Amino acid sequence: MSEASATPPMTSTSPSGQRAVKAVIPAAGLATRFLPATKAVPKELLPVVDRPVLQYIVEEAAAAGIGDVLLITGRGKTSMVDHFDRQPYLESRLEEKGDAERLAAVRRPSELAEIYTCRQAEPLGLGHAVSYAESHVGDAPFAVLLGDEFVDLSEPLLPAMIELQARTGGIVLAFLEVAPEETKRYGIASVAPAEDALTDLGEVVKVTGLVEKPAPEEAPSNLAVLGRYVLPGRIFEAIKRTGPGSGGEIQLTDAMALMLAEGTPVHAIVYRGTRYDTGMPLGYLQAVVQIAAKRDDLGPEFRRWLAEFVAADAGAQGT
Ligand code: UTP
Repeated sequence: MSEASATPPMTSTSPSGQRAVKAVIPAAGLATRFLPATKAVPKELLPVVDRPVLQYIVEEAAAAGIGDVLLITGRGKTSMVDHFDRQPYLESRLEEKGDAERLAAVRRPSELAEIYTCRQAEPLGLGHAVSYAESHVGDAPFAVLLGDEFVDLSEPLLPAMIELQARTGGIVLAFLEVAPEETKRYGIASVAPAEDALTDLGEVVKVTGLVEKPAPEEAPSNLAVLGRYVLPGRIFEAIKRTGPGSGGEIQLTDAMALMLAEGTPVHAIVYRGTRYDTGMPLGYLQAVVQIAAKRDDLGPEFRRWLAEFVAADAGAQGT
């Protein structure tokens, strides 16, 4: 995968004088869409080529200048943390062998960010998971990166979201344009044009409403909420006032809708880059193929094989 491109300097601070420097990765869900693989292995540790999904996510946070990451884990998921530890025995064996490349790859996860963890006692929803971060982040703004999706590092999203939050002091989301028949899988937004002073940060819109998983005929737009948020610390108080919503879970969307109704500005950036959704088998397979095809080391041979495979398969199917 290509390395992060240089992002323009973004240095303003929010009306509260604070700027997001910490990230929270909620990763305590049950991952039912990927069973049985996720019965004993967290979906965040499924490999995409040779790195677990979670490493791509922490790399995305680190590339946005975030050096402090709180991982919300749950029952049977603590092995995720080990990936970010040093492995002295393995490292010394690789050192003895003079395998500098693998040694660097093994050390890299531990060098990306300071990783803190916290356990969600029961998976009672994304809002509930995020509420565990309160004592770690306090009243400062912070980023939330869902543990099963990430964007291509050459098309970064988070730096502009952090800057947008610093300028507005409100809630910042990211949207993806989806096909009408897909609205029922996502939170969908109604939007209005953003203030002129914000549009230098990309395709920025003002959010006027959020609906959870609407049928195509009821969807107010085709802008779907992607798994990246930059939130003000006031979200914790809103989550406390949010009762169980869809599926009986405490939903982050409901807490954000409450703040929106009470006057907190909510903006979003429409993301046009490449986003990988590894939370279910099809999206996971697409991520593996796309990333493998882009890699300098594996890509040329893999693409050749893939083209032959597709051609042979098409022949066999008579298409
Ligand atoms: P998902 O909606 O993808 O749920 O959660 P899930 O349990 O991970 O997967 P499915 O839908 O059953 O297949 C979005 C994110 O929120 C986290 C998940 O780990 C995922 O990163 N989450 C969700 C929690 O941390 N705790 C929860 O109680 C719910």
